[in-house]
Amino acid sequence: MYVCLCRAVTDRDVEQAVACGHTTLPALQATLGVATGCGRCRSHVHQMLQKTPESPFSASSSFQSPSRVGVSVG
Ligand code: FES
Repeated sequence: MYVCLCRAVTDRDVEQAVACGHTTLPALQATLGVATGCGRCRSHVHQMLQKTPESPFSASSSFQSPSRVGVSVG
């Protein structure tokens, strides 16, 4: 299924790129060009990253944002 119509990127393209270590939106933008056109696919790609175990933003990842570990900013 196409995720990004502007760049003809499929969900498999995104999954393969993530498996190769491109686990952030900027990395996927640089690698696949996803979300570099109209931007309508950005939220969907972000959701895909959250569901991907390799992603630092996924629920199963050990990565914790500052708010989750009690670090305050400012
Ligand atoms: S649909 Fe992805 S940039 Fe337009």
